[in-house]
Amino acid sequence: MVIGGTSGIGLACVELFAACAGEVWAVSRNPQRALSALSRFGNVRTAAADATDSEALGRLVATIGPCDHAVVSIAGGAHLGPFPEFGDAELDRTIDGKLRPYVHAARAALSVLKPAGSLTLVTGMSARRATPGAASLALVNGALESLVLTLAVECAPRRVNAVSPGTTATSAWDRLPEPARRALFDGAAARTPLGRIAAPIDVARAIFALTRTTFVTGVVVPCDGGTHLP
Ligand SMILES: NC(=O)c1ccc[n+]([C@@H]2O[C@H](COP(=O)([O-])OP(=O)(O)OC[C@H]3O[C@@H](n4cnc5c(N)ncnc54)[C@H](OP(=O)(O)O)[C@@H]3O)[C@@H](O)[C@H]2O)c1
Repeated sequence: MVIGGTSGIGLACVELFAACAGEVWAVSRNPQRALSALSRFGNVRTAAADATDSEALGRLVATIGPCDHAVVSIAGGAHLGPFPEFGDAELDRTIDGKLRPYVHAARAALSVLKPAGSLTLVTGMSARRATPGAASLALVNGALESLVLTLAVECAPRRVNAVSPGTTATSAWDRLPEPARRALFDGAAARTPLGRIAAPIDVARAIFALTRTTFVTGVVVPCDGGTHLP
C-alpha cells in the first residue's frame, strides 16, 4: 500500500511494486489522476482518502486489510523561502501538508501491517543537510526521521524505516515557473556527486530494497546521489 501513490515517488513505487510483487494499493485524495498510468497493471487498485482526515483514512485502510508493506509519500504545504517569511500561516500549512498526514498515515498503516511487514516513510535530505530556504521541510523531515527511531522499537517486529531523497524530478516542482525549475534542477545536479538529480524510480528502488532487507529497521537511507557526503 502506497499512501500518496498517484504521483511522483509514490507512483513510481506503485509501478515498481506492481511489476515485482502481488496486489498493490495506491491511495491519495484524487486517485483518478493516475488511472491512465496504472491501467496497464492488473494488480493495482486505487482508493481515495485525504490523509489530513485521520478517521477517514483509518476507515479506508481498515477496508484494505492486512498489508505486507506500506509506504508514505505525501507532498504538500511546504513553504520555500527565507525563514523570516515562515510565519504562522506557513507553519500551519507545513504541519497540515506533510507532518499531520504522515502521522495519520503511519498510524493507519501500522494498524493493518502484518508482523513481518515494513513501513517506509519518504522524508527528505533537508532533515540533515542545511538547505537555506527550506526551513519548513527541515522541520517536518527532521521530526519524521526522529519518529522512525522510536516507531522501529515500539512497533517491532514490524520494521520502520525512511528513505531520504535529494532533489527529485516530480510534478511537486510544477508550481515553479519553468526557468526557475530548470535552474533549481541544474544547480542541484551540479552539487550531486553522481552528476544528476533523481528520477522518481531511483527513489522507488531504494524503498523497494528496504522492503526486502528483512533485518534492517530504524534507519534513514539517503537516496540523493551522494549529496549528503561532506
Ligand atoms: N520531489 C523532490 O524533490 C523531493 C525531495 C525530497 C523529498 N521529497 C518528499 O517525497 C514525498 C513525495 O514527493 P513527490 O515529489 O513525489 O510529490 P508529488 O509528485 O506531488 O506526489 C505527492 C502524492 O501525495 C498525494 N497527496 C498529497 N496530499 C495528500 C493528502 N492530504 N492525502 C493523501 N494523499 C495526498 C498526491 O495525490 P493527491 O493530490 O491525489 O492527493 C500524490 O499522490 C514528499 O513527502 C516530499 O517532501 C520530494
